[in-house]
Amino acid sequence: MNEKQREENSQVNPEAKKTEKDYSKYFQAVYMPPSLKDAKKRGKEDVQYQSDFSIPEEFKGLGNGKKFYIRTYGCQMNEHDTEVMAGIFAALGYEATDSTEDADVILLNTCAIRENAENKVFGEIGHLKPLKLEKPGLLVGVCGCMSQEESVVNKIMQKHPHIDMIFGTHNIHRLPHILKEAYLSKEMVIEVWSKEGDVIENLPRVRKGTTKGWVNIMYGCDKFCTYCIVPYTRGKERSRRPEEIIHEVRQLAAQGYQEITLLGQNVNAYGKDFKDLDYGLGDLMDELRKIDIPRIRFTTSHPRDFDDRLIEVLAKGGNLLDHIHLPVQSGSSEVLKLMARKYTREHYIELVRKIRTAMPNATLTTDIIVGFPNETDEQFEETLSLYREVEYDSAYTFIYSPREGTPAAKMQDNVPMRVKKERLQRLNSLVKEISAKKMKEYEGKVVEVLVEGESKNNPDVLAGYTEKSKLVNFRGPRETIGNIVKVKVTKAKTWSLDGEMAEEAIEVK
Ligand code: 5AD
Ligand code: SF4
Repeated sequence: MNEKQREENSQVNPEAKKTEKDYSKYFQAVYMPPSLKDAKKRGKEDVQYQSDFSIPEEFKGLGNGKKFYIRTYGCQMNEHDTEVMAGIFAALGYEATDSTEDADVILLNTCAIRENAENKVFGEIGHLKPLKLEKPGLLVGVCGCMSQEESVVNKIMQKHPHIDMIFGTHNIHRLPHILKEAYLSKEMVIEVWSKEGDVIENLPRVRKGTTKGWVNIMYGCDKFCTYCIVPYTRGKERSRRPEEIIHEVRQLAAQGYQEITLLGQNVNAYGKDFKDLDYGLGDLMDELRKIDIPRIRFTTSHPRDFDDRLIEVLAKGGNLLDHIHLPVQSGSSEVLKLMARKYTREHYIELVRKIRTAMPNATLTTDIIVGFPNETDEQFEETLSLYREVEYDSAYTFIYSPREGTPAAKMQDNVPMRVKKERLQRLNSLVKEISAKKMKEYEGKVVEVLVEGESKNNPDVLAGYTEKSKLVNFRGPRETIGNIVKVKVTKAKTWSLDGEMAEEAIEVK
């Protein structure tokens, strides 16, 4: 719902802030559901670029003496949105807590990409009910991608009235207003703008670590792959201005960050929406590589928009890492066509060839969906053969999950779930086999590791990641945490490497 609709609605129902919850009224007047149908229309409406977000005086101190807890589901974009919300909470005077029992406000920052992601969130919503009954002053909110779906909002309104707030991906900057309204009103506060999206600058952030940082370069997606809900939940493609991004990366470098990841749903479309600039991801990376920060990555790429300029700039190396996540989704050109991926198997292989010619050491990882509607055995075999041909270092693999409102959800599907599960298992065995083989090549070599902290299972062991995103566990002094050190790999496992601190030896990147 846009600002105007909200205003109109509150005029339609001046009783909006009553003391009793009456959800039927929402359906009639107060609430206009977010609409996937509307979201699909990409209008000519200009993106509003708001460069000066600030928290109005009236909200300052709203959180004094109170604590917030945010549980994040899904992708890095969501993780980073959580950092922005944490920044807003902190600016309002709230303190962070990592226990739901301790919290005065709990937010679930949700993911809509597959059905099982949504089921997990509904499970958690149910678990929070007793806590809410015990502590009536507690505010519980649902935000993120699921809030952009009308079916989800309806279900929460009908079945989970203990939820106090629902707000969408376009409404994060409105958090102070939403919280204040939730404190004042006994009704569920719903603020979901079914719109194409703006760019808001100067948002506060409390980052999770001091070593690795995420930097949004663009928002939204215009690709409309037929299985995917993201273009509906995240709005249209819109890029941040290069100078804002460069400024943010410089600030992170000055604060001692060692690695940044540029974020977007389809980073290769960066800059396409600029009307006054002919400027793409390659140009941006060419400027960022001059900043004194050891590692720069980006995610996620779409093969269709991965252009020669970007390859040329990445080949300059330095702090631009040559580990590229390049989702392929399927190895069959027919399935790719049904997915509306806008490339064929041959185009993809040609792109991989170009990348490897320019960067002989480049490693690739990917995303694959099995069991797309009517996928045949032969088409699935093509996915396996493509995987062998490209020799990815690893992959995220998924069984296709129909998402309401997407074109693929309307396709008839003759592939039984049993077959889909078998395909996933076969693909996963191949992923494991090739990953183990690639890891083995590291044995005896020296890698550079950005040390993040203690390993999960043993506080005496440190853990960090190589430039190629390989997890390395090794014994070493705790003073190395936050720095890049050389580690000699003593043993390769399927998903990680064991090693010991090294002074000098042959270097592998
Ligand atoms: N079903 C299964 N997997 C999906 N993905 C996106 N939408 C779906 C869906 N409906 C996968 C794609 C994408 C990754 C983030 O999630 O592989 O690259
Ligand atoms: Fe979804 Fe395709 Fe956009 Fe990726 S490129 S977010 S898979 S629609």
